[in-house]
Amino acid sequence: ACPFRGTRIGGAVGSEPQLDHWWPNRLKVELLHQDPAEANALGHHFDYEEAFSKIDYEALKQDLFDLMNSSVEWWPSDYGNYGPQMIRMAWHSAGTYRIADGRGGAGQGMQRFAPINSWWDNGNTDKSRRLLWPIKQKYGAGISWSDLMVLAGNVALENMGFKTFGFGAGRVDAWEADRATYWGPEGWNGKRPNEAPSGPLEGHPNQMVTRDLRWEGEPDADHYDLENPLAASHQSLIYVDPEGPRGNGDPIESARDIRETFARMAMNDEETVALIAGGHAFGKSHGAVPADKIGPAPEGAPIKAMGLGWQNPEGTGFAQYTMTNGIEGSWTPEPTKWDNAYLENLFKFEWEQTESPAGAIQWKPKDPNAPRTPDAHVDGQMNELMMMTSDIALKEDPAYREICEKFLADFDYFSDAFARAWYKLTHRDMGPKVRYMGPEVADEDLPWQDPIPALDHEVVDASDIAALKARCLDTGLGAPALISAAWASASNYRDSDKRGGANGARIRLWPQNGWDVNRPAELSKVLDALEGIQAEFNAAQSGGKKISMADLIVLAGCAGVEHAAREAGIDVTVPFVPGRMDTTQDWTDETFEWLRPVADGFRNYVHPQVRFHTSPEAIFLDRAALLKLSAPEWTALAGGLKVLDQNWDGGKHGLFTDRPGVLTNDFFRVLTSMDYVWQPQDDSEMLYDLNDRGTGETKYTATRCDLVFGANAQLRQVAEVYAADDGHARLVHDFVAVWHKVMMLDRFDVKAERDKV
Ligand code: HEM
Repeated sequence: ACPFRGTRIGGAVGSEPQLDHWWPNRLKVELLHQDPAEANALGHHFDYEEAFSKIDYEALKQDLFDLMNSSVEWWPSDYGNYGPQMIRMAWHSAGTYRIADGRGGAGQGMQRFAPINSWWDNGNTDKSRRLLWPIKQKYGAGISWSDLMVLAGNVALENMGFKTFGFGAGRVDAWEADRATYWGPEGWNGKRPNEAPSGPLEGHPNQMVTRDLRWEGEPDADHYDLENPLAASHQSLIYVDPEGPRGNGDPIESARDIRETFARMAMNDEETVALIAGGHAFGKSHGAVPADKIGPAPEGAPIKAMGLGWQNPEGTGFAQYTMTNGIEGSWTPEPTKWDNAYLENLFKFEWEQTESPAGAIQWKPKDPNAPRTPDAHVDGQMNELMMMTSDIALKEDPAYREICEKFLADFDYFSDAFARAWYKLTHRDMGPKVRYMGPEVADEDLPWQDPIPALDHEVVDASDIAALKARCLDTGLGAPALISAAWASASNYRDSDKRGGANGARIRLWPQNGWDVNRPAELSKVLDALEGIQAEFNAAQSGGKKISMADLIVLAGCAGVEHAAREAGIDVTVPFVPGRMDTTQDWTDETFEWLRPVADGFRNYVHPQVRFHTSPEAIFLDRAALLKLSAPEWTALAGGLKVLDQNWDGGKHGLFTDRPGVLTNDFFRVLTSMDYVWQPQDDSEMLYDLNDRGTGETKYTATRCDLVFGANAQLRQVAEVYAADDGHARLVHDFVAVWHKVMMLDRFDVKAERDKV
């Protein structure tokens, strides 16, 4: 046999097929360990805050200004200005954000990696990033790619006369492609969406179709809905098809899709119009060459392309030959100047459909005397103005039209609306303002930042903590109730957009206090008792010392966990870092409702109105990923919470113990024992009876989210560790560690303490 690998079919590491091809529905637990510290070329202990604080920020900005007004031979700038393409790059970097799960967004610079780097809509954003490389090279680790891309967008806007609202640095780069985020059901062949043939993709293991599958129902039907958590109307687009839904050229239908997709990005109508009208005040669209002539996107490009994609064989392949999206032309007569010409011309003229040289649907003014716009490269050539179907949508949709008219009448108002919407767009996924760095952070607190007041009082010391814990236990509410309130308070955190968590004590406020998963009636009893303790404690202090409800709720949870461990014969102290503050209802944005768990396997909760097309355990894995848990942390936390009697409805599923509320390893011992037979209660296989193998007697009941820790090979290995005779103490210590981690996930105000967990 040939001793060399790779000579026939595969043979190199990772050669297909692999596990996911053989078992496409397997639970991908390894996704919890994505982008590990080992992948970070700057090392495990790299501190971006420190590195950023050492760069000369003004010099960096000046370098970016200089870049905007330059031009290089391998990718000449349109109109001698790189600004518009930098704005588009920054918008596309941020525009992947979706509010349903907080994923996407500019936060980790994912535009550098597949699949996003190769989406049709990101055509030629690779050139923008490559143009930034000399600046990235100069400042090295002192500016992350993710910050640099957004800052380049800001500088581009400023350079063309627009006053931005501010800039906060603090985005920390990822070091590998994200294999976890769901970007839609469709397959993909690198072609323009909907232009690609539908039907099976030849050679694709899942035989997926490239045709649009994410919309349920037809556009004109009563029920027409985009699959959650998606926020883009088509695969490999940032938002909507500029030519209208499925390229149909219909502005009204385009408006409907724009409204839906921008709402999924947490933008209201006014913000949506401001963003589109503001963005399209600049630059041009590129459609000189038919799409089928263009080479593969970066991820599929040959090695000689050195990471660049979309090679264009026509002419020079750039400048007047550039082909990006397929539509050709500019929206305004002066595409490198901030003015109101986009809206003025949109409303002043009637527009009619036409076709670009690449064959795309676009619109031109009916009036031959409408202003023209200079060619971006050919001296002396003047071109017709252009609008996309998605631009005409702003004029045709009555609600958008009203906003446009307001913006037309008041350019300053429009400028402010665009500045604020751009700031929100580009900072939306950064979490609380304490994460922002640099001299240009806007002073104003904004509701979407989920503001929490800064700490303004002395915090509790060790003896106060001990006394308060004793008081919490004295309430007689019981450890499970205290644990439940703390868990409800902290566990809605999501690391995707760094929202939620215990700080602020929003658990007391609408909407979180009404979520059924939090058992509002029981919760309010705990909160009432804790408010009493808080009032008593604060009143007894002579100095400025206080305890906030946010802190006290977490502290009560610590007391509950310590008590539960003690009952199991193990003395532990759960770490507690005070300093949380309470926020107000006014500062609780209505979009907070998006943080409501639709399912929470820790508490065996599934929202009654939700129909999933995926398994409950897959949603549970998603929750674990949003909480940044490793597989052992997830397992320890889940197994601990089960015996601590945390089911949302007080039910007994997964309560594999005769001592509820005591932190034993009983859950794991039962789970791994062969003394039982697991019997589905019905064909849906959602609920199970645990029957004694000898007597047939039903001993316990369980959900899939309970059983997965014994059924899945990777999780079972961890479960065995905790089920072993030497596993109990380990479980208690690991549970305490991960409990503390969850309580600290949102403590960006005490970075050093947070980094320790
Ligand atoms: C360019 C579509 C929203 C900023 C483009 C292009 C398309 C497009 C097709 C041409 C790309 C090319 O061929 O080079 C859309 C659609 C939107 C939208 C369908 C939403 C309905 C926005 C937003 C911004 C923005 C929100 C920024 C706030 C820009 C800029 C360019 C551009 C600056 C010019 C790029 C250049 O000159 O190279 N847009 N866009 N767009 N877009 Fe948008």
